[in-house]
Amino acid sequence: MQIRFDGKAVAVSGAGHGFGRCIAETFAGLGARVFGCDLSAAELAETAKAGVTTEVVDLTDRAAATAWIRRIEAAMGSAIDVLVNNAGGVAGQEPRALEDVPDADWDRIFAVNVGAAFVLSRAAAPGMKRLGQGRIVNISSGAGLAPSLTGIQAYCSAKHAVVGLTRQLAHELGPFGITVNSVAPGFVRTNEATEKQWAAYGADGQRGLVARIAMQHLGSAQDIANAVVFFASDLAGFVNGQVLAVDGGK
Ligand SMILES: NC(=O)c1ccc[n+]([C@@H]2O[C@H](COP(=O)([O-])OP(=O)(O)OC[C@H]3O[C@@H](n4cnc5c(N)ncnc54)[C@H](O)[C@@H]3O)[C@@H](O)[C@H]2O)c1
Repeated sequence: MQIRFDGKAVAVSGAGHGFGRCIAETFAGLGARVFGCDLSAAELAETAKAGVTTEVVDLTDRAAATAWIRRIEAAMGSAIDVLVNNAGGVAGQEPRALEDVPDADWDRIFAVNVGAAFVLSRAAAPGMKRLGQGRIVNISSGAGLAPSLTGIQAYCSAKHAVVGLTRQLAHELGPFGITVNSVAPGFVRTNEATEKQWAAYGADGQRGLVARIAMQHLGSAQDIANAVVFFASDLAGFVNGQVLAVDGGK
């Protein structure tokens, strides 16, 4: 069976960089009409080269996030077929002792990683229900299943929340033909934060991290995009509420 998404509307959050860009480009290559949002117009311009319709949206602004979904629906004249809640990360933060974490830093990580997934899913679900089908794929993390390599309390907690949201929405939306699943990536070098993290391990730490991966190498953005495509495809029509670790095996 050839996996294709011709005529389908796919919305990818955080499409300006890293996994999000790769996911958007991959769906575009499979025939989908892809819409991507992010914070940086310059980074989105790169993604747009693959034929992705891009827009600057700060997803911590819930009204703006909802309005982005409405504009996609208006452009398609129909519901979104696939929503990929990818935007997230550590929001530029470093690991600190618990007593040194300010409220605003805790809230920002929750807003980006789980608040955005909530608000975009809430906005997209009514259209999917009317259509009687839909796919939501949330990018959680190994940090959603165990303590985080980043050492950042809010990141680990927010990614666990993404797993909870996935399981709860799978139950709520399953009766309407909508599946909700999650990809939990292992460590992939995609951005400044992961480069910093990688450098901080030092040569021994880097060797140790790779040695704990059964495949004996780090993954790529394409590895993550491939798992998202699986969940979004007809092949996964009866797969719901699942979290797929894409980490080379531990
Ligand atoms: N790289 C890894 O090792 C790794 C591992 C596990 C999970 N993840 C998760 O995968 C997802 C993508 O990560 P990545 O490594 O590609 O990082 P990335 O920083 O390259 O991509 C995240 C994107 O989300 C965007 N974003 C952040 N806040 C936003 C906001 N308020 N509004 C709109 N867009 C916003 C960023 O600008 C960025 O382009 C994130 O949810 C991250 O937590 C990454």
